[in-house]
Amino acid sequence: MTTDVLDLILADHRRFEDLFRDLRDRTNDRGKLLDELSTRLVAHAEAEEAEVYPALRRFKDITDEEVEHGAEEHAEGNEELLALLEIEDTESDAWEEQLGELVKAVAHHLDEEERTILSDARETVPEARRAELGAAFVEARDARIEAGCGELDYVRDLVARTKK
Ligand SMILES: [Fe+2]
Ligand SMILES: [Fe+2]
Repeated sequence: MTTDVLDLILADHRRFEDLFRDLRDRTNDRGKLLDELSTRLVAHAEAEEAEVYPALRRFKDITDEEVEHGAEEHAEGNEELLALLEIEDTESDAWEEQLGELVKAVAHHLDEEERTILSDARETVPEARRAELGAAFVEARDARIEAGCGELDYVRDLVARTKK
């Protein structure tokens, strides 16, 4: 099993895209899928900010601006996620429109993160360090999942904290 942090992050990104596709389909259990997406998305972003971004910014080519911008985009994604979680009727037009807003924000972030931070890290961070960071990333991510980070109250607190 690989623990390269870059591969782990990319695998999560692909999982988010699969979940977006499944969420668009009204015949699926959108509530259940959204629970899964919310949990995975919040845990992923928090683990990146806690364990990966701070470590990567010490390498050349990965700038403070890239890392700070990444965290800002996480906050934007969390706001769109919260707005979606707060709409009860998963078959309503409002819900579908808000799903579109969430997909737009997250897709933009995944694209940018992959082109900048992750691509730079692939070139400059040695494999052994990437493996260490992979283990730290998984530990931080799974601790968030244990803590119920996809739940409405958790996401609400998170958005309130980052807005300050
Ligand atoms: Fe990511
Ligand atoms: Fe990210």
